[in-house]
Amino acid sequence: MTTTETLSHGLFTRGEPVSAWTVATALPVTYEVRFTPRLLDPANPALGNAGGAGGRRLVVVEETVDRLYGGRIRRWFEARGLPYRLCVLPAHEQVKTMDSVYRVVEQMDRFGLARRGEPVLAVGGGVLMDVVGLACSLYRRSTPFVRIPTTLIGLVDAGVGAKTGVNFGDHKNRLGTYHPAVATLLDPAFLATLDRRHLGNGMAEILKIALVRDRRLFERLDRDGEALVAERFQGPTPGGEVLTRAVHGMLSELQPNLWEHRLERSMDYGHSFSPTVEMRALPELLHGEAVCLDMALTTVIAHRRGLLDTGQRDRIHRLMRRLGLPVWHPLIEPATLGDALTDTVRHRDGRQRFPLPIGIGDCCFVDDVTAAELAAAARETEELSCAAR
Ligand SMILES: NC(=O)c1ccc[n+]([C@@H]2O[C@H](COP(=O)([O-])OP(=O)(O)OC[C@H]3O[C@@H](n4cnc5c(N)ncnc54)[C@H](O)[C@@H]3O)[C@@H](O)[C@H]2O)c1
Repeated sequence: MTTTETLSHGLFTRGEPVSAWTVATALPVTYEVRFTPRLLDPANPALGNAGGAGGRRLVVVEETVDRLYGGRIRRWFEARGLPYRLCVLPAHEQVKTMDSVYRVVEQMDRFGLARRGEPVLAVGGGVLMDVVGLACSLYRRSTPFVRIPTTLIGLVDAGVGAKTGVNFGDHKNRLGTYHPAVATLLDPAFLATLDRRHLGNGMAEILKIALVRDRRLFERLDRDGEALVAERFQGPTPGGEVLTRAVHGMLSELQPNLWEHRLERSMDYGHSFSPTVEMRALPELLHGEAVCLDMALTTVIAHRRGLLDTGQRDRIHRLMRRLGLPVWHPLIEPATLGDALTDTVRHRDGRQRFPLPIGIGDCCFVDDVTAAELAAAARETEELSCAAR
């Protein structure tokens, strides 16, 4: 049987008469992530221009963010004369479900959203942006949206990639899509009102990027991390380099593999056990805290394998503690870790593809972590954590 290309590039037919077709096409994707200081200043047009000017805007704002910034957001639209409707959505891990997605979809329908020219604005933390992103990817199969992250995790992680998602059953982010926002506007001024724990939570994801790809970022965190948390990135300690390196590091990893065809992902560091631990501990642990527990454990595994020296292991754990992050938790035990690994192996299509740090700033992938190794590493992590108290 011959294969011929007919009609247009990418449509292939087979057989005479034709009895089979192959359609090959590509989806070019371009999106912008941009630091945009003074985003809510009516003199700054960025909020209305992101994703294209004109039309109206449906603005979905997380509940707490509305309490803190809703007045300024409304004033921005009124001052600029851009028609809008603002809807407030409670968004935290326990309501990160399809029900919240339907609530957003209802608002989109009621608003009579235009198909292309009226990007939805998602203003909030990672949960809000993941929920609104999923709603937008489903509504008319694809509706543009703009991310405006207001948490540290949002600024360096949840706001900049392509993924949307909600939890399903006991599984974190089990339902989701790849639907990048047309633009992400980063304004660190939102961090001024974020509580200390959520700042530490975001620092965990920055630490992840440092550990697997950016030694200089680690040095900056080691030197300035505590002060940046204390000052909420608004004080005299320069936080620009930390934020910029974190976003750049994240995007450098994501861009060549945006659709995750390659399942060896260094950005999965800290995300092998943490999804199960986070969901089992709900609402006790925040996302970044669960990620940190995973990183603390895998730091020990890497040390036991000779990939890190003792000084590096202890320095990493010490920095975690200084950032207010947990190093050990009762769920870091063999049964939970075993269940987590089983789920992760499924997620990674039958192999562990387990990222482990090599020193500080690099990583490798392994497939041979055993239950006995996990149990021993969990015990050692607990001992190290107790000894440090
Ligand atoms: N899509 C992705 O690629 C991606 C990447 C990383 C994390 N995530 C997801 O992000 C979520 C975690 O995000 P998060 O840490 O932003 O949590 P979050 O969205 O739950 O927000 C944390 C808390 O901060 C409050 N808040 C938000 N902005 C504030 C502000 N400026 N001032 C004061 N309070 C504020 C919120 O009310 C909320 O209680 C997880 O569900 C995780 O799965 C997604």
